[in-house]
Amino acid sequence: MSQREATSHPIERGNWSSVLGFTLAAIGSAIGLGNVWRFPYITGKYGGGAFVLVYIGCVLAVGIPIMLAEFLIGRKTQRNCVGAFQKLRPGSPWVVTGWLGVITGFVILSYYSVVGGWVLHYAFLSLKNSFTDRPPEEVSAMFSGLLGSPFLQIFWHTIFMLLTIIIVARGIYGGIERGNKIMMPALFLLLCGLLVYALQSDGAKAGLDFLLSPRWDQMSPTGVLEALGQAFFSLSLGMGAMITYGSYLRGEANLFRSSFYVAIGDTLIAILAGFVIFPLVFTFNLEPSAGPGLIFQTLPVAFSQLPAGGLVALAFFSLLTFAALTSAISLLEVVVAYFIDEKRWGRTKTAWLIGGIIFLCGIPSAVWGYFLGLMDQIATNYLLPIGALLIAIFTGWVLTHSERRSEFESGEIRALPYLSWSFLIRFVSPVAVAIIFIYKLGIF
Ligand code: TRP
Repeated sequence: MSQREATSHPIERGNWSSVLGFTLAAIGSAIGLGNVWRFPYITGKYGGGAFVLVYIGCVLAVGIPIMLAEFLIGRKTQRNCVGAFQKLRPGSPWVVTGWLGVITGFVILSYYSVVGGWVLHYAFLSLKNSFTDRPPEEVSAMFSGLLGSPFLQIFWHTIFMLLTIIIVARGIYGGIERGNKIMMPALFLLLCGLLVYALQSDGAKAGLDFLLSPRWDQMSPTGVLEALGQAFFSLSLGMGAMITYGSYLRGEANLFRSSFYVAIGDTLIAILAGFVIFPLVFTFNLEPSAGPGLIFQTLPVAFSQLPAGGLVALAFFSLLTFAALTSAISLLEVVVAYFIDEKRWGRTKTAWLIGGIIFLCGIPSAVWGYFLGLMDQIATNYLLPIGALLIAIFTGWVLTHSERRSEFESGEIRALPYLSWSFLIRFVSPVAVAIIFIYKLGIF
């Protein structure tokens, strides 16, 4: 029996079947609404290619180091995000970092599921071919119709949450890994199909230009900070989601490599989503910086006028459903893992009970748009940056050099990557996160 097995928690926690299964699940957590909805729109706002370059810089210098830190803490402790800090520094206040993660997962999932419900509603509208040959005003009005109907929103929020609970209740291998192994390739294939379609549209050149040509005059300090914040949300960092996923890994996986795969996959999908969205937006002279309404209001207008637009819409919203679901399960798993590990509850009971409570807490977000926005602000502007900062400081300054190094090196890593990572996690990541946090508080 290896040392890792001997020290593992006696309760049956579950494991990934392979490093590939783990990496795919982490990619599934990362790729979500943040990629398909938010990334394309802020890229348009902050100078296209200029933003893409700054974003990639943030992912490399801050995103990957913190992701790797989360993976390593999870694998080393084999525990949920509260238990992980307890095990590494028993009795110290660092356990608060874990608590913060559980609370953040709870808060984000409550409204993420409402937005996931909008996506399901639009997938359903596409299935009924509701956009085709309708006038643009009528198509955009469908979104305000949805927002104005608490019944519809709660209905789809219920369905989305049920799907999330069912997958999580089935466990790490049988539910989460298998769900990702089905949904992620499906997402990728749908995206490739849509890409071929969009790149043949009349607006292809204008769309790609808008997204890629660097307009440095539109890049500002605010743009840099937006890029960093986007990197955290998109890579699922700052609340222990990656600690939790890492804790179901055993043995010697090269996590340095996995964190690169997740970052590359996540960034690639964000850029490709832009390659699908903007050509269609430009084909019909729609407003590329429409913001939150871009995929629910603007894009359906394009679908209503495109040849085979009903089918394209269905492909698009199915893709988005998969992206949102594979992220939502990682959010629920953070909270569920805590109760399984620390309270010894069974997985099925925990998933249904906790999922049910989060569902109830999401109802205010479904009936009251302001509340949804407020929860999102609290989570992304406060909870996630604080969590990321604490994780970076803990890994870089509280763990000893040899604790960090021994976990890093379990997976055939040589000195150079370790030294670069160690430098980034100690000096660059905490400073960068502190700056966005202070900035977002409005002190500058
Ligand atoms: N990364 C997901 C997205 O892009 C959202 C998400 C899932 C998330 N799990 C998370 C964000 C954990 C922060 C922390 O939509």
